[in-house]
Amino acid sequence: MDKGCENLTEYILINYRWVFVCLFLLPVSFFYDLWLYLRNWLVFQLTSAPKQHNKKVRDVQRQVRGWIKNGKKSQMCTARPGWQTMCFRQGRYKNTMKNIKIDLVDILEVDTERQVVRVEPLVSMGQLTATLNPLGWTIPVLPEIDDLTVGGLVMGTGIESSSHRYGLFQHICLSYELVLCDGSVVKCSKDENPDLFYAVPWSYGTLGFLTAAEIKLVPAKRFVKLTYKPVKGPDNIANAFERASRDLKNEFVEGLCYSENEAVIMTGVQVDQTEPEKLNEIGKWYKPWFFVHVRDMLKRNESIIEYIPLRDYYHRHTRSIFWELQDIIPFGNNVFFRYLFGWMVPPKVSLLKLTQTEAIKKLYENNHVLQDMLVPIRTLKDSLKVFKETFDIYPIWLCPFILPNNPGMVQPKNETDDKLYVDIGLYGTPKVKSFKPRESMRKIEKYVTEVHGFQMLYADTYTTKEEFRKMFNHTLYDKLRTKLECREAFSEVYDKVSRAARS
Ligand SMILES: Cc1cc2nc3c(=O)[nH]c(=O)nc-3n(C[C@H](O)[C@H](O)[C@H](O)COP(=O)(O)OP(=O)(O)OC[C@H]3O[C@@H](n4cnc5c(N)ncnc54)[C@H](O)[C@@H]3O)c2cc1C
Ligand SMILES: *[C@@H]1O[C@H](CO)[C@@H](O)[C@H](O)[C@H]1NC(C)=O
Ligand SMILES: *[C@@H]1O[C@H](CO)[C@@H](O)[C@H](O)[C@H]1NC(C)=O
Ligand SMILES: *[C@@H]1O[C@H](CO)[C@@H](O)[C@H](O)[C@H]1NC(C)=O
Repeated sequence: MDKGCENLTEYILINYRWVFVCLFLLPVSFFYDLWLYLRNWLVFQLTSAPKQHNKKVRDVQRQVRGWIKNGKKSQMCTARPGWQTMCFRQGRYKNTMKNIKIDLVDILEVDTERQVVRVEPLVSMGQLTATLNPLGWTIPVLPEIDDLTVGGLVMGTGIESSSHRYGLFQHICLSYELVLCDGSVVKCSKDENPDLFYAVPWSYGTLGFLTAAEIKLVPAKRFVKLTYKPVKGPDNIANAFERASRDLKNEFVEGLCYSENEAVIMTGVQVDQTEPEKLNEIGKWYKPWFFVHVRDMLKRNESIIEYIPLRDYYHRHTRSIFWELQDIIPFGNNVFFRYLFGWMVPPKVSLLKLTQTEAIKKLYENNHVLQDMLVPIRTLKDSLKVFKETFDIYPIWLCPFILPNNPGMVQPKNETDDKLYVDIGLYGTPKVKSFKPRESMRKIEKYVTEVHGFQMLYADTYTTKEEFRKMFNHTLYDKLRTKLECREAFSEVYDKVSRAARS
């Protein structure tokens, strides 16, 4: 193909990607989800999963023992292909490491007496709410994108607008079951093998294979009574957000910043009754995207109250993938599009990744940021200023969380420090002229380390290994890697998540 033609193809692939997404990816995503939903529903009704579980775990053990018998030729990782995960990048190591198949996709047991749900690692958040909410139960921290999995949230991290009460996803987990690199199965909790229990979160599959987790259950109500409060000015934004986060009467706290001067802070509680005229079923296919709906609140100079069905609230950012979808389907929030095709939205992130061309990948790499920075809440105002200078991306997602002083990769750096943190999520195209992926990110990583914060592992990290070790406490991790003889079996976290390890 000559140069001009190649450029034209590239142009069409980039600018008319929505044609392919709308005609092909949307229907495929829809029917795939429908099939999964029916399959999971049936398996749960038949309670066939618990019987299968031991057999499936034995299969993981068999594969690990096979790896030992064959002389441990290369390190191991899960066989889940890179395109299937939510992370926008794909690990290069999938091609070179021994892939262990883990076909563990079901909810095993809902024990309302002990208030525990036992799940396999590939259970997704959408699957959990669809099963638990109709039974009147939920989990305390429910990361909101439907396709996030328990395994990924335990091994990486998970957060939601209830995290200022309950902590990160790892903090609502009561125990883990793992297959270690010697082929044995172990269970760990805060009382049984506590070292392992505290080392697993953020270890990214480098201590063993997760085969089950027990998660705390809490009763669910039918609606969330949500108060939207428009706030103007950097000082007011930081102060109002911190005040809302410290007030434990709020079950949910979230902020969306639309510029350095404009934000809407949302606080919510669960209720069983509504005022019908204030009911807003934001999950319905024809409703505006949530971040657009919230932005409209800025025009009103007062607090606004709405009642939102619980499951709609949980998955409020699913349909527009926060605000990522506006770059992929620019007219996706158009009212005609919503009524006619909204029921198929969103396309699955996995299918978007699977079908993206090199040109799109490059475009994203050089012009797009996807980052969650977790920083102490006292630095919120300063952090927002630094991020504005470095990227100038809006909207910005704010989600508060409490970080208990447990041992492990992520803990307050200073015991006397405040335990309240905030996740600052930056997803979009930077508007500053000086943006350079590597330099800009390194600047931010340095800043985040200095203020004793952390970077989420799904995102690009440009740190060196030494800098990474400064950001994350490796004391317990190193101890367990030695004790469990992981070196030959698994790479270090850094070697899986650094920019060089991913394409
Ligand atoms: C578009 C987008 C939206 C997001 N939204 C949110 C959000 O709303 N809230 C939030 O908290 N986070 C969010 N995240 C980040 C998310 O928490 C991480 O990507 C997380 O790791 C979960 O992703 P996953 O389920 O696809 O896991 P994966 O990417 O599949 O897993 C992460 C890693 O964990 C390890 N792992 C997974 N399963 C196992 C297992 N069984 N045994 C051993 N190791 C295992 C593997 O090393 C794997 O690479 C978002 C990310 C993106 C890209
Ligand atoms: C918003 O309300 C406040 C207090 O109620 C008032 O002081 C302010 O002038 C109002 N701003 C606008 C733009 O209406
Ligand atoms: C790192 O973790 C260990 C074990 O939990 C703890 O003793 C140590 O104080 C931590 N170091 C820092 C710098 O936080
Ligand atoms: C921990 O924080 C306290 C108060 O914020 C401070 O006085 C102390 O020097 C800090 N310690 C370290 C090791 O940074």
